[in-house]
Amino acid sequence: MPRAEPETIGAQRTGRGKRLPGPGAARHFSPLEPRSRSEAPALSPPNLCAPDVCSYECVCARIRVNFVLRRPAGSEMFACAGMGALNETFELWNGVKIPKLALGTWQMPPGETTYKAVLFALQHGYRHIDTAYAYGNEASVGKAVRDSGLARADVFVTTKLPAEVKSYEGALEYFERTMANLSLGYVDLYLIHAPWPWHRKGEDFTLQNIEVWKAFEHIYHNGQCRAIGVSNFDVRDLRALMANCSVKPMANQIKFHIGHTQPELTQFCQENGILVQAYSPLATGKIFRDQRIAPVAKKYGRTVAQICIRYALQKGLQPIPKSVHPERILEDADVDFEISAEDVRYLDSLGAQTTLA
Ligand SMILES: NC(=O)c1ccc[n+]([C@@H]2O[C@H](COP(=O)([O-])OP(=O)(O)OC[C@H]3O[C@@H](n4cnc5c(N)ncnc54)[C@H](OP(=O)(O)O)[C@@H]3O)[C@@H](O)[C@H]2O)c1
Repeated sequence: MPRAEPETIGAQRTGRGKRLPGPGAARHFSPLEPRSRSEAPALSPPNLCAPDVCSYECVCARIRVNFVLRRPAGSEMFACAGMGALNETFELWNGVKIPKLALGTWQMPPGETTYKAVLFALQHGYRHIDTAYAYGNEASVGKAVRDSGLARADVFVTTKLPAEVKSYEGALEYFERTMANLSLGYVDLYLIHAPWPWHRKGEDFTLQNIEVWKAFEHIYHNGQCRAIGVSNFDVRDLRALMANCSVKPMANQIKFHIGHTQPELTQFCQENGILVQAYSPLATGKIFRDQRIAPVAKKYGRTVAQICIRYALQKGLQPIPKSVHPERILEDADVDFEISAEDVRYLDSLGAQTTLA
């Protein structure tokens, strides 16, 4: 099968600062090593609740003070104050609840990197992981979910059929491969990765997509996945599918970040009850070059990443930021704040000027 483009699986790219996990990174990814309460890091956030403070050494304790770790009685899991977005859900039109924030895994190398990042995220409140057959890391995602100790029903996994597969039989075959990779019993949301193979971007594959969608409907009716959807579909692609199929897509995963908001497509999806999943909410790291967002971040005492993720949420979209760094994984979920309508309008206005789209 041809390599997926642009989502090629290759060397990990980094965002701002080009920082890769250093020698201490393995330690950051070991949040479950017990330590005595007396050794607990000296934290003094105003809302610190001493008896509930995490008694494990954890990266959360070494970063921003608004991460207050709590470990509910009898639970091995952590939840961080200020990360309510992790507990909130959207409802797909078929009634399935989908957590509002997902961890993306594109360009996460399979094996230890993906496993540790996904496990860390799950242990710190994330309940939604986005992967794809083309990322080559479904097996690592599945293992992390199984090892997380969470009930299967408490984790939502989105994955995707390779864009190059454009036949009914091919879709069924690749779904089985994905099922074997993940080994989670079922998929929560299964997407057609793109309306065209990456190397034939923009060509018309309407008839093939309808065939593929019929396979998706079969999988859905069989109960092997809880919801089905598409990715990178424009209005014309969606209309064609909706006119020829019995099950309307439940989600459309599209590129969405400040400066590239696809308002017509987003509006069409929202008017038709199709959830928009916002991929590349940080413009695959390039957003940090846009100096116009920093003043907004400063005003709210937040980071540029948090402004971007919060912006997508306030637009009613479901953002999928990706990071392999624990502190960023936490930072990206710490978005319990409100951007004012005026500032949202300012961020909207960046669309026409930005060079990032
Ligand atoms: N359906 C599709 O066709 C499609 C296409 C693209 C993406 N996606 C999905 O959407 C996800 C996210 O998109 P994306 O991978 O393009 O990238 P993104 O989330 O827009 O940006 C990720 C980049 O930003 C860095 N980063 C993350 N949080 C940060 C923070 N708080 N501060 C500074 N840098 C930060 C990451 O670096 P580190 O990892 O080094 O921390 C990485 O370089 C993907 O992983 C994938 O699951 C889907």
